[in-house]
Amino acid sequence: MDRPKSTEPLVTVRDLAFYRDERPIFQGLNLTVAKGSVTAIMGGSGTGKTTLLSLIGGRLVPARGAVTVEGAVVSSLPRKALFALRRRMGMLFQSSALLTDLDVYENVAFPIREHTRLPEALIRDLVLMKLELVGLRGARRLFPSELSGGMSRRVGLARAIVLDPMMVMYDEPFAGLDPISMGVIVKLIRELNDALGMTSIIVTHDVAEASSIADYIYLLGDGHVIAEGTPADMHNTDAPEVRQFIGGLPDGPVAFHYPAPRYLDDLLAREPS
Ligand SMILES: Nc1ncnc2c1ncn2[C@@H]1O[C@H](COP(=O)(O)OP(=O)(O)O)[C@@H](O)[C@H]1O
Ligand SMILES: [Mg+2]
Repeated sequence: MDRPKSTEPLVTVRDLAFYRDERPIFQGLNLTVAKGSVTAIMGGSGTGKTTLLSLIGGRLVPARGAVTVEGAVVSSLPRKALFALRRRMGMLFQSSALLTDLDVYENVAFPIREHTRLPEALIRDLVLMKLELVGLRGARRLFPSELSGGMSRRVGLARAIVLDPMMVMYDEPFAGLDPISMGVIVKLIRELNDALGMTSIIVTHDVAEASSIADYIYLLGDGHVIAEGTPADMHNTDAPEVRQFIGGLPDGPVAFHYPAPRYLDDLLAREPS
């Protein structure tokens, strides 16, 4: 792929630490998302991928370090500026999170109605344009219960980009899709990113999909970045952590077991746990 690569950072994470109930989720996390890129954040489940998106969106506050978006430290933005920034960061949730009482059209119109006072005719133009981009203009009167998994994901995508965000964050956009729908979403994310001049962050554990779409990949583990590079770098590396992840090996440098007391101690313990 020969598209011009910008090296100008849009998102910078520096020496970030974050805890849940004393338990470190991140300790010394560093990464950069280049403007215009599709950047994949990968890692096993529970490594903090979704948490990282919340930190970038300013929904969680780091214990140490900083997330910077367009040069501004997200956690020190005043409320109004934070909301303005969030409007420019579209989000596609893991579940698509469509509102079940609203049809496709109203789901996509929702962020416009929530954030603007645009006249109805303009809302209609914006909604139909985004539905056309994801191939679902004809499905606008269907309700979420009438959509396939792939179609729901595409509606979520249309909704995520309806306010023309500078950046979109996708949380597990391929999860639970059949191979064909998955291919459609992969293609859409890349095409929308490039055609609309956006920047995309994709959180996923799907190695093949991430490799086919991303310009750059970060692999998370142990609270920090354990490997990074282009998809080719990741496939050609000898680093055991990467090989384990890429190869889908059940155990290796990344442990299969969640940290636990010794099994025997647990079996012999009397207190309820
Ligand atoms: N609201 C929460 N309260 C307490 N712990 C949480 C909460 N959300 C996530 N966690 C924990 O933080 C860790 C990272 O979670 P998450 O970011 O969802 O991982 P991933 O998206 O990589 O699967 C997990 O161990 C999870 O159990
Ligand atoms: Mg997650």
